[in-house]
Amino acid sequence: MGMSIYAAPAKINLSLRVLSKRPDGYHEVDLLMAGVNLADELEFSPAPAAELVCDDASLPVDESNLVMRAVREFEKAYGRSVRLRITLRKRIPHGAGLGGGSSDAATTLLALNEILGTGYDLSELAGMAAAIGSDVPFFLNPVPSRCTGRGEIVTPVEGLADWRSPIVIIKPSFGVSTPDAYKRLHDARRVRGLPYGVQKASGISLVNDLERPVFAKYPVIGLLKSWLLCQPGVRAAMMSGSGSAIFALTDTDDQARDIAERAREDYDPTLFTWHGTVNPAPEALRTEETSGAGSQEGDAAEEIILMGAEPEDLPDVPSAETHSAETHSAYRHTSERAAASFPSDEAELTASASPASSPSQPAAAPTAGADIVLPRKRGRKPEPIRRALAEAEDLREQCRTLQQALNERLEEAHKAGYDPKVPRRGRRPVVVQQYFDLLRQLEDVDEKLREVLSRIDQMERERS
Ligand code: C5P
Repeated sequence: MGMSIYAAPAKINLSLRVLSKRPDGYHEVDLLMAGVNLADELEFSPAPAAELVCDDASLPVDESNLVMRAVREFEKAYGRSVRLRITLRKRIPHGAGLGGGSSDAATTLLALNEILGTGYDLSELAGMAAAIGSDVPFFLNPVPSRCTGRGEIVTPVEGLADWRSPIVIIKPSFGVSTPDAYKRLHDARRVRGLPYGVQKASGISLVNDLERPVFAKYPVIGLLKSWLLCQPGVRAAMMSGSGSAIFALTDTDDQARDIAERAREDYDPTLFTWHGTVNPAPEALRTEETSGAGSQEGDAAEEIILMGAEPEDLPDVPSAETHSAETHSAYRHTSERAAASFPSDEAELTASASPASSPSQPAAAPTAGADIVLPRKRGRKPEPIRRALAEAEDLREQCRTLQQALNERLEEAHKAGYDPKVPRRGRRPVVVQQYFDLLRQLEDVDEKLREVLSRIDQMERERS
């Protein structure tokens, strides 16, 4: 056997409603998911034992990787060892809410089923998929679907089968942890000035309940959404899954491409950006240009064929024609592109963002709580103090993020010939409006931080 290459497409959540908390710790959800033509690539070739290699050094390739979890789930049913080397080429950023890891796992199940000729049907594969992760079953057949339960009960939405839309996706350099987003859901409040409401596009109601906890921790993601909503041609913009990616549906492909370009050039050069199609027609699949951190520039359109070679010690790989009849197989393609590497989940926004000052710029924006030095975590503290310290750290992080965004707005305004601190008559440009919205948010967060600090102070005094 030679090698076989499969593509694992990303998804977006057109809707994400959290209904209730379940006794098993998960949340009952009602999701509307759709695939997009941004895809990872998985290559399978013979090896003495199952082995995973990945071009993204920040991803583990041990048993914790969802691809290896899929191999082990498959082996349980197969009753034999999988003797394949899997090479994973990442293009979908992780910690983005785009389902990259889940899609890699589902694609591994589909590929093993085909390569090893096991002939499991979709419901048998769905059982294995659900054991790996809540989103994995969707990727076995990534057509627009309603997903309920914890996300693993998948029902294709017939009415959206032929619906397509141009889309642009942007993602800051940091990722968001899904368990953390769900954990914060119940306590998080809305950040004033950020958009959360239900939007309508193509008869779909777009809303994401996880925006509340995620924007509360990372207001900059909400600002990216606000920015997208102001761009020409945008019909709706929303966070995907638990973020940190935000997408916008546009009227035309050109608008999506222009927004991706503007996001990097005018907003933040460290952003990951991509534009393409939601629910792409299988025959029209091609990978659009991906830019920003970890990008591959100037990609050529890719072939949608399976590169299977003659088998030697493993069962036959069916031909490309055989596969093209199946929905998922439409996503496979060959590629000879260079490796991608995306920033790690832990990457700090502040570490990657460029300083906003320029020689011609007036004084920087107020710094508020961003520079506050928090009490040291020396020794073992009682639980309430530790919780309050964690809250203070979070708030200070929010202050820093807002501070950064404020400096950027100030610089932009200055470039456009405005100084927000000098009052002027008439209509304010959007950037000045954004500056004042941010300033209000910073004041709010700063106030909260000071409250928490005085609470800590009080608790420490009572303790001593
Ligand atoms: O199922 P999966 O492993 O992808 O879920 C990751 C985490 O996200 C879970 O451990 C849980 O904390 C949270 N989650 C949830 N409710 C869901 C899906 C995920 O609470 N429906």
